Amino acid sequence: MNKYGLIGYPLGHSFSKRFFTEKFAREGIDACYDNYEIEDAQMLLDVVRQNPELRGLNCTIPHKQAIMPLLDSISQEAREIGAVNVIRIRRNETGAPTLEGFNSDVVGFRESIKPLLEHKHRKALVLGTGGASKAICYALTQLGLEWKLVSRSKRGDNFTYDELTADILRQYTVIVNCSPVGMHPHTDEAPQLPYEAIGPQHLLFDLIYNPTETLFLKRGRERGAVTKNGLEMLELQALESWRIWNST
Ligand SMILES: NC(=O)c1ccc[n+]([C@@H]2O[C@H](COP(=O)([O-])OP(=O)(O)OC[C@H]3O[C@@H](n4cnc5c(N)ncnc54)[C@H](OP(=O)(O)O)[C@@H]3O)[C@@H](O)[C@H]2O)c1
Repeated sequence: MNKYGLIGYPLGHSFSKRFFTEKFAREGIDACYDNYEIEDAQMLLDVVRQNPELRGLNCTIPHKQAIMPLLDSISQEAREIGAVNVIRIRRNETGAPTLEGFNSDVVGFRESIKPLLEHKHRKALVLGTGGASKAICYALTQLGLEWKLVSRSKRGDNFTYDELTADILRQYTVIVNCSPVGMHPHTDEAPQLPYEAIGPQHLLFDLIYNPTETLFLKRGRERGAVTKNGLEMLELQALESWRIWNST
């Protein structure tokens, strides 16, 4: 039986295990999906050695960058983003594995925000400068949007939260939250923005999916903005993983 799984640390309740277990049952696919909680990225190689039926892995925090030197090849997209969250495993006749790295967050976000984009959405603010924001900026560029990072600290030409004015928000009509601010259990927190400058011309996207509506999205919705959370992105990146594992 083909095996798939998730590496990361700590893992706790994983969306991916539930998603794939349900998908396999629903579609009669003879495969299983397991969590491999590994503290050190190097342990990826042990997981692959000990599980000869493994065909693919997802990779989450904190190993998305650290596994990159362990892989035999990395897609151009994942290389440019600097993070791998999908590993395809191929084996030769002797069972020796080849590990290929990809990034499915780009496709997940791009396909999730695309239907909401209108002509008035030309420039985006990307809140947070962690691993996820790199994939989001890559996707925004693919979609033809200009973007600027917003960080708690000043590096390069990003904005800091203190610098954001109503005038800046008038120009940047797409705002993507790639910070953990507002995530359960801190549901009473929201990124520090001049919310009074948000209106129906704005599109607010939050990568967070728990809670369903963060305070960031709620404030935007109350001011007439179009809003979307990160659940569909999560589902789409999982489906993209499946496509990658099963493509030649
Ligand atoms: N829906 C999906 O499919 C999906 C996929 C990936 C990630 N996510 C979610 O996206 C979020 C970001 O993921 P990540 O891996 O990039 O996380 P991360 O690396 O832990 O953090 C992202 C950035 O957020 C900013 N930040 C952190 N704590 C903050 C605070 N207290 N106040 C303000 N800013 C803060 C930091 O940027 P600065 O230091 O520059 O301010 C940090 O680099 C998480 O909530 C994650 O669950 C969702």
